[in-house]
Amino acid sequence: MSPLTPAPFPAARPRRLRRTPALRELVRETTLTPSSLVAPLFVKEGIDAPQPVASLPGVHQHTVDSLLAEVKDLQAAGIRSVLLFGIPALKDAVGSQAEAADGIVQRAVRALKDAAGDDLVVVTDTCLDEFTHHGHCGPVRADGTVDNDAAVAGYARAAVAQADAGADLVAPSGMMDGQVTAIREALDAAGHAERVGIMAYCTKYASAFYGPFRDAAECAPRFGDRSGYQMDPGNAEEGVREALADAAEGADVLLVKPAVPYLDVVWRVKQATGLPLAAYHVSGEYAMVAAAAERGWVDGDRILAETLLGIRRAGADLVITYAAGEMARRLSDR
Ligand code: PBG
Repeated sequence: MSPLTPAPFPAARPRRLRRTPALRELVRETTLTPSSLVAPLFVKEGIDAPQPVASLPGVHQHTVDSLLAEVKDLQAAGIRSVLLFGIPALKDAVGSQAEAADGIVQRAVRALKDAAGDDLVVVTDTCLDEFTHHGHCGPVRADGTVDNDAAVAGYARAAVAQADAGADLVAPSGMMDGQVTAIREALDAAGHAERVGIMAYCTKYASAFYGPFRDAAECAPRFGDRSGYQMDPGNAEEGVREALADAAEGADVLLVKPAVPYLDVVWRVKQATGLPLAAYHVSGEYAMVAAAAERGWVDGDRILAETLLGIRRAGADLVITYAAGEMARRLSDR
């Protein structure tokens, strides 16, 4: 019998189990819980008050102090992990502030860990685009292309600085070849073999959905685009190959991004690897819902809940989303 042929249960009456909320909850296959949501947060050097990001309602560029306050609120709602992005005061051609011991990300990680310890999982974005003045994810050659191995060496040094500061997981997002191997070797050499893991953006597409993030992180490329290193949106098989490669390089958690336009890839990567899988519901995905909700065209809360559940159902164990706080608050006062 083909798996598509319905099983011969003539007396089945599926609606019996849809009759009451308690019955529906009893047989629900996939659920959304605050513990599976990760909140992306931005910390900026050189500001003395949090700045709202216009294209991401509810999201701010934080000072270290306002970051701590925000995380406290998130924890009260049940959120247990954050993904941290930093915007340095000083950008240069190679992104040196990414690896500086007193760089903004490292300072923020130390402050978070001092305040919250192991109750909070701190994941750090390990990339250079926020730190370079040209906005690319690594040093750029004269012909405008990104130098893969120079970028990877920079990621490895940044990852060690983040781990030294106390990060639990580093998250390389630059889509350079060999980045997981290089980071793993550097972390091990620096004594972080047992404590610090890698959440690898294995399958990240060159996407229009990152627009609002580039405002928040001030990292839009000054010239060209990222299609020389991020993936072509037409490719799913390649996405699985990228995932298998990162798994073989020692990734602890894999990550697919964006989420909703690539749910087929989320499913395939989970089936192919069985590793813990994150999906990133990115800035453009969130901003579109927020904008439509602001106009009263859709019920934003319900759209977000259904969307995040869909991402989990497709195979993601954890979902990175700008809606983490509001969703966790809704889940906990149900
Ligand atoms: C790059 C990075 C990007 C995002 C996360 N890490 C932007 C990019 O690739 O241009 C986008 C996340 C989002 O849109 O929410 N370091």
